[in-house]
Amino acid sequence: MLKGKTILITGGGSGIGEAFAKILSQDNKIIICGRNEEKLKRVAALSDQISYYVADISTPVDIDTLFKRIANDKVVLDVLFNNAGVVEKFEVLESKLSSAQIFEKINTNLSGGIAITQQFINQAYKSVPALIINITAGIAIFPVPVLALYSTSKAGLSVFTRTLRQQLKSTNFKVIEVFPPHVETAMPKEIGNTAKGAKAYDFARKTIEAINKGKIEYTPGFNVVLLKLFSRFLPKTGLNLIDKVTRKQWQG
Ligand SMILES: NC(=O)c1ccc[n+]([C@@H]2O[C@H](COP(=O)([O-])OP(=O)(O)OC[C@H]3O[C@@H](n4cnc5c(N)ncnc54)[C@H](OP(=O)(O)O)[C@@H]3O)[C@@H](O)[C@H]2O)c1
Repeated sequence: MLKGKTILITGGGSGIGEAFAKILSQDNKIIICGRNEEKLKRVAALSDQISYYVADISTPVDIDTLFKRIANDKVVLDVLFNNAGVVEKFEVLESKLSSAQIFEKINTNLSGGIAITQQFINQAYKSVPALIINITAGIAIFPVPVLALYSTSKAGLSVFTRTLRQQLKSTNFKVIEVFPPHVETAMPKEIGNTAKGAKAYDFARKTIEAINKGKIEYTPGFNVVLLKLFSRFLPKTGLNLIDKVTRKQWQG
């Protein structure tokens, strides 16, 4: 399924997105985007099948410009990985984030992904099978209070994924949701989570295998099972427990 395609990976300059780009460039044409050109250049140098555009997906103008440039370059995308994301601790009683910073974070994880999906659908050949792969998180199933913005935006992206799948059910678009477990990238370190996790390359390889097998939801790792159980049977106690454990684990 992921062979001979033209694939856009947002946030392809590092972490999980970089691993997707590297593996998929063996059989596909890859376009990555992100804010930091140095990171994108480094990944693009790994294969002549990888090219990049600098674009900040929290900004509507950058998204519109990205798709204009893709169209001007006579490229039609048939796979989209909504992968770019940001995480941060957010405590309403202590937060010094400005309204603009709050918008930027939610836009990156949610509004940006939705706007990119719309542009992707508009430009795709409707007669050719196309894939939209949204990278959400276990946190979309059950929130972590100290990651209030991240939990809120990932839950939003997860709901969008399901509504999109229903709207597109009679079309050639297939909508896939991936809930990564803890993967060792820069992201968990941002919040002080230095525990051992999956390697980005292994996770990306298994995700691609799952997509190629036709899965529409990929939920590796025990954490998602646990979060689903909390959500169903222990909504209040589970929230207190998760709050306590994460605050203890991610001190500093
Ligand atoms: N790692 C985990 O344990 C884990 C667990 C669950 C879910 N996830 C999800 O997996 C995805 C990939 O995360 P990761 O672990 O690979 O994190 P990462 O290494 O921090 O990569 C995130 C990527 O997103 C890009 N990005 C951030 N803000 C952007 C913006 N406004 N516009 C364009 N690109 C932007 C960054 O590039 P620039 O800085 O150059 O913009 C970076 O390449 C995220 O959606 C994350 O929520 C990760």
